[in-house]
Amino acid sequence: MKKVYLKTFGCQMNEYDSELIRAILSEAGFSFTDDVLAADVVLLNTCSVRENAARKVRGYLDKIRHDRGGRPAIYGILGCIATHLKEDLLKDRYLKIDFIAGPDSYKRLPELIKNCISQVPKCPSAQEKKIKPYDIELSDSETYEDIYPLRDSSVNAWIAIMRGCNNYCSYCVVPYTRGRERSRTAESIVKEAQRLSTEGFAQVTLLGQNVNSYHSNGVKFPELLKMVADIDAIKRVWFTSPHPKDFSQKLITLIARHPKICKHIHLPLQAGSTAILKKMNRPYNKEDYLSLVERIREKCPDIAITTDIIVGFPTETDNDFRDTVDVYQRAYFDTAFIFKYSPRKHTEAAEKFKNDVPERLKTERIVFLNELQKDISLEINRSRIGKTEEILVEKISGREIEGRTIQNKRVIVSAQVPKSPRAQEKDQTPGNMGTWGLGDLINVQITSATPHLLRGEILSARPVDKCADVP
Ligand code: SAH
Ligand code: SF4
Ligand code: F3S
Repeated sequence: MKKVYLKTFGCQMNEYDSELIRAILSEAGFSFTDDVLAADVVLLNTCSVRENAARKVRGYLDKIRHDRGGRPAIYGILGCIATHLKEDLLKDRYLKIDFIAGPDSYKRLPELIKNCISQVPKCPSAQEKKIKPYDIELSDSETYEDIYPLRDSSVNAWIAIMRGCNNYCSYCVVPYTRGRERSRTAESIVKEAQRLSTEGFAQVTLLGQNVNSYHSNGVKFPELLKMVADIDAIKRVWFTSPHPKDFSQKLITLIARHPKICKHIHLPLQAGSTAILKKMNRPYNKEDYLSLVERIREKCPDIAITTDIIVGFPTETDNDFRDTVDVYQRAYFDTAFIFKYSPRKHTEAAEKFKNDVPERLKTERIVFLNELQKDISLEINRSRIGKTEEILVEKISGREIEGRTIQNKRVIVSAQVPKSPRAQEKDQTPGNMGTWGLGDLINVQITSATPHLLRGEILSARPVDKCADVP
């Protein structure tokens, strides 16, 4: 039995894909190891979204080869770098990759790996006769809905409900690396969520590059979200990442009213300046974004809103940047992921514009926004002190419990924790202090806050009611 070492880079979609890969390869008779030295096959599921992400993969590959001290293995590059750089990767003498497979080719992984194994030791003539050591075709229909992922987690389970992206934001490589948008059937998603609930998963997170553009046989995103949230044993549902252009009033009302849907929306802004948004090919302007935030807050005052920002997009002036700062101050994000613009091969922005904002200015802008964000995050988190929050327990270690509030905020609680996992399994009676386990909801009083997390004390555990009043 060949042992596979699989390392994942990038976003949650890649994490989910690695769970699919594990299911596909296990079914084909491969086993997995966390020890890279013991592996026969080394697979890197890669990210290409910024130059830094791609550099990280190269660095990691170097380290593995160094650690293995020249011992042979089959090396495969999967994921977004595979479809971004294509066959060029195989020609890279420095990388010395045996095969590559893109995000829509994972069902062919057993075949691709076995093909490489039968070629060791390699000789060029053998190589010519065999099948090509790459599959980077992007599909219009592959959703992997027939594969049940082999998950690592036990509390939260990801489900990719759609794949690909049709938005072509001018800076972004994803439409080229993951192909066209396609949605899974609602039946297959609900069935998977039901199975997860019977396996004890407390939370389901619906994933998609553009998750709220989901549609399949007349079912749109709000309907699907409600179907999943209505599953009895599921305690919480979250989704990421929505696009502002597809955020309907129906979706806002559903989030506000349904007690099991997380009160956290990750709503990528990218830039505050309308002129820059236009050049980014984002189909909204500064005012549209702000009024969407206002509509959300009006219906759901307790919502946490987080965002993604790119600083230093080509031509971004100080005035443009001031618009981003202005949106920041008015939208009042709970947290933000702020990136420096990184030109990506094939994208419209890389071909059309010079990367003309100096590195020094990009750094200044990122530092400024991070400082501002830290103050805002701290103020928002401090406003929770003294309040009672219901947290979903995700981790128990030593004398600490870690969980998340319905706004997805991390809370650390010092507690008398039952010693063995078996004790936790046997006795999870809600309300019985100190005997809860992973995936339980417990009431916590918040006692202190930093910009990144809350601390609290346990009050009690209690079950969640099912929502009756949903549109
Ligand atoms: N589909 C998601 C985003 C996926 S990429 C969405 O639209 O919400 C995650 C984030 O990386 C993006 O939101 C953007 O802020 C950032 N990003 C993408 N391409 C980038 C680039 N070329 N340079 C810098 N940041 C980039
Ligand atoms: Fe990229 Fe835009 Fe698609 Fe997000 S919506 S994946 S930023 S092209
Ligand atoms: Fe990276 Fe691909 Fe995700 S480029 S961010 S791994 S979709």
